[in-house]
Amino acid sequence: MKKVGVVGCGLMGSGIAQISALAGYTTHVVEINDDILKKGMAKIEESMEKGKKRGKITEEQFAAARKNLSSSTGLASLKDCDLVIEAVTENTELKKKLFKDLSGIVRGDTILATNTSSISVTEIAAVVDKPERMVGMHFFNPVPVMKLVEIIKGHTTSDTVMAACREFAVAVGKEPITCPDTPAFVVNKLLIPYLLDAVRMVQDGVATPEDVDKAMVYGCGYPMGPITLLDYVGLDTTLHAADVMYAEFRESKYAAPVLLRRMVQAGHWGRKTGRGFYAYEGK
Ligand code: CAA
Repeated sequence: MKKVGVVGCGLMGSGIAQISALAGYTTHVVEINDDILKKGMAKIEESMEKGKKRGKITEEQFAAARKNLSSSTGLASLKDCDLVIEAVTENTELKKKLFKDLSGIVRGDTILATNTSSISVTEIAAVVDKPERMVGMHFFNPVPVMKLVEIIKGHTTSDTVMAACREFAVAVGKEPITCPDTPAFVVNKLLIPYLLDAVRMVQDGVATPEDVDKAMVYGCGYPMGPITLLDYVGLDTTLHAADVMYAEFRESKYAAPVLLRRMVQAGHWGRKTGRGFYAYEGK
């Protein structure tokens, strides 16, 4: 693998592009318009600056990564990629359309990976020409820091593609695990019910958001409390994952509390919209 494409340069896509470029891959980022693309590329710069200040990235690595990065607003620029990783909004129809279009643009042996946290890889693969190359590569936020990547084997994913993705994950400094294509894979199967329970506690007046967070940070040593984590991951993403899991399993532990749904409807999605359970002003 030499050239990697990243579609979507938001929270996840920018992180994926960063680690790919830093690991020496020629990395091309695609966004839907110039404005969003500019913001996404600025996010990569900002994160690499932070990494440099923390002593994680050297001046030379920074300069080399910059050279490896390019960007555009058209999928056609991905035509000679060996691997394309999609990190757009969690919307099944959007992802299906994107991969259908992509499979008509890239080579027949290009690996197509989705960074979905809950959508079926198999369902997306069904619209792709040569579905054996469709795979899930689920990274965690913040991508430059979190070590895990879940590699999801869809019903049709080939073993060769799984092995190539594991190799790529290791090359970009991650620890891969293999997951079957069941809703929410491994991490979110544990994480989502926990986050939903935290919202239920706030909704039912059991504890304030601050106290729920304090409980898990000071009582259990978690780096972030669940309410802060919800704002960090995005309430919209969490609700989507919960809805997919509930639709599949019909278990009450996956049923989203009304408060979460209302907050998403209100546009209070967390850090990304400047307001979630907490308010985020400026940076
Ligand atoms: N590039 C490279 N390295 C960076 C960096 C960057 N941009 N920013 C920070 N780092 C490094 C720092 O140098 C530091 O390294 P050391 O530990 O070796 O010193 C480390 O990352 C932590 O950095 P900070 O000190 O700035 O951060 P922190 O201690 O305040 O922790 C946090 C921040 C990593 C986000 C921590 O709070 C945490 O782990 N939170 C939980 C995050 C989590 O659970 N993520 C998963 C969410 S679920 C998901 O994403 C998937 C889904 O489908 C919902």
